[in-house]
Amino acid sequence: MRRLLVTSALPYINGHIHLGYLVEAIQTDIWVRFQKLRGHEVRYFCADDTHGTATMLRARDENRGEEELIAEMGAAHQTDLSGFNISFDHYSHTNTEANRAYCHEIWQALVDADLVATEEIEQLYDAEKGMFLADRMVRGGCPFCKAPDQPGDNCSKCGETYSPADLIDPVSTLSGTKPETRKAKHLFVRIEQLHGFLSEWTQSGTLPPESANYLANFFLNKPLRDWDVSRPAPYFGFEIPGHPENYWYVWFDAPIGYMAATREWCDAHGGDFDSWWRGGKAEIHHFIGKDIQYFHTLFWPAMLKTAGFNLPEKVHIHGFLTVGGEKMSKSKGTFIRAATYLRHLDPAALRYYYASRLSSKVEDIDLNLDDFVAKVNTDLVGKVVNLASRSAKFVAESGLSAVYPDDGGLFAEAAAQGQAIAEAYEAGDYSRATRMIIDLADKANPFVEQNAPWELRKDPANAQRLQDVCTIALNLFRQLAVYLKPVLPDLADKTDALFGIPIDSWAAATTPLVDIPVNPFKHMMARINPADVQAMIEDSKAESAAAQPPPEISALKWNDGDEWLASEPLAEEITIDDFLQTDLRVARVVAAEEVPEARKLVHLTLSLGGAETRNVFAGIKSAYDPADLVGRLVVVVANLAPRQMKFGVSQGMVIAAGPGGKDIFLLSPDSGAQPGQRVH
Ligand code: 2FM
Ligand code: ZN
Repeated sequence: MRRLLVTSALPYINGHIHLGYLVEAIQTDIWVRFQKLRGHEVRYFCADDTHGTATMLRARDENRGEEELIAEMGAAHQTDLSGFNISFDHYSHTNTEANRAYCHEIWQALVDADLVATEEIEQLYDAEKGMFLADRMVRGGCPFCKAPDQPGDNCSKCGETYSPADLIDPVSTLSGTKPETRKAKHLFVRIEQLHGFLSEWTQSGTLPPESANYLANFFLNKPLRDWDVSRPAPYFGFEIPGHPENYWYVWFDAPIGYMAATREWCDAHGGDFDSWWRGGKAEIHHFIGKDIQYFHTLFWPAMLKTAGFNLPEKVHIHGFLTVGGEKMSKSKGTFIRAATYLRHLDPAALRYYYASRLSSKVEDIDLNLDDFVAKVNTDLVGKVVNLASRSAKFVAESGLSAVYPDDGGLFAEAAAQGQAIAEAYEAGDYSRATRMIIDLADKANPFVEQNAPWELRKDPANAQRLQDVCTIALNLFRQLAVYLKPVLPDLADKTDALFGIPIDSWAAATTPLVDIPVNPFKHMMARINPADVQAMIEDSKAESAAAQPPPEISALKWNDGDEWLASEPLAEEITIDDFLQTDLRVARVVAAEEVPEARKLVHLTLSLGGAETRNVFAGIKSAYDPADLVGRLVVVVANLAPRQMKFGVSQGMVIAAGPGGKDIFLLSPDSGAQPGQRVH
């Protein structure tokens, strides 16, 4: 018997569980359930990843403590994940005392091994918010391609990476102000000292070959860069001993959360922590996405090795999820939350579909919604469940035959496939496993069709044959339910209820059931109605739109006050037709003169293009020197009835904002606009 400690990556506390994370949770859970069915001792741990600036800012915004946020989001995560039958032995979070204790222990080991160095580094600082800015909290022009409004770590246009201090005209996304550069003390782990160990460990069969090959290049003739593991206050995390006001960076304490969850489970169940993480014969298996390989294949083993803990036996790495061949998109409704899916569809369907797409390769998987519907309806409902639904009712009274009848070798053949299917599961090649299982279903179904129990039942003389045919069909069905149990635990439970005998090991597929009663057949799985898929997409779209911060809130970062709206409340609603009665046009100021007798007025001659001009007296003298106005574009109300004024006729009105005095601001069209163009 193997002892397996299995983990999925810890989801961030700030977001809800969505179909992307579920690829990993379902992938891990299938492996865990498979290993349990094979009789191994397996513990499956996970937790919420709670620390970091994002949590701190959100708690501040929502005017509550981080702990409350963690409790609320953590509960939502657990409800979502259990809705998909993810069978954790324990689910914790990283802001626990157990986690703090292991952080201290590992840190001390790094310090003792002389792997920690202190350095002053320059970082962007938001003086208004009083905090250093993480890379993603700064935006500005790309220093390479000059694309505007890029994040502080890499450019979305040209893909270059850089440091936020290199941005052109950087702006803090928190306050909208220009950040300062300040020096701050940071603590670094010098993982180059473990170069030899890491380059060997990463090539020792622990990683998928694609990842190992990639890392091999990485180690070649290049020192490993020191890892920055501290963040200065304010930060939500654990304070580093001996360095007040400095906290471990979230990625330092996150994987340690795997250990802390183990400790909590051991404390609650009388388990021995060391038998999992120190010595002993336990295998540690991490399941992660390809985006967080560095942390799990360089930093994490470096920490474990230095502190004398067991190293992972395997790091299972998967690719990203696309939906319909594209990145998940909020506006297209393909960024689907777990809870939204569960309101419309059966979790078993997604578990099966993901299983049918997952291989042991580090490749992206696509959720094609048409294919999803077709595959679940054809394979599961049409081929698997159908075997039982078409035969169970005919043996409800007689039960199964006393002796397993001659089935032409079908049961024996499927039993013999068990080893190959198990190997595919073990390797994480679930698409191969499900293919083999459906191939077996493809052999079982013709047997039922050819022997047509629904025909046999019409003649009482066929009673024995009817019982035999159904005994075979139901046993072939149950074999499939055994093989599918890691993917479809609910189907296995319903199968248990049908026969009154639990599927408690993989070996249940090797011996047919005979001479037992069969319980009334209860519905096992419904076909997916494409309309439900569509409704889920529409729901996701609506949720994403509702989750966009209202404009008032996103505007807060610019510190725009509300005094103007307060002093002049919005006017009554009008229709678009009302608005279109006002003919606004772009105009060029071709002449501007003071009107000496008038305190406020400037006499403007506006061109609407060609020979069309307008005389306008505008009350802007306190804010503009007429000479500066000549040549510029303005916006004019061009169909205003002419008005006789003391100094002449005014034939329109230029549009401006502001209360008056020095604060008058003429509106200008963006460059490219031409006189005479309508504004609408
Ligand atoms: O990338 C992420 O979503 C991280 N929250 C994963 C952490 S996994 C582990 F190291 F804790
Ligand atoms: Zn760029």
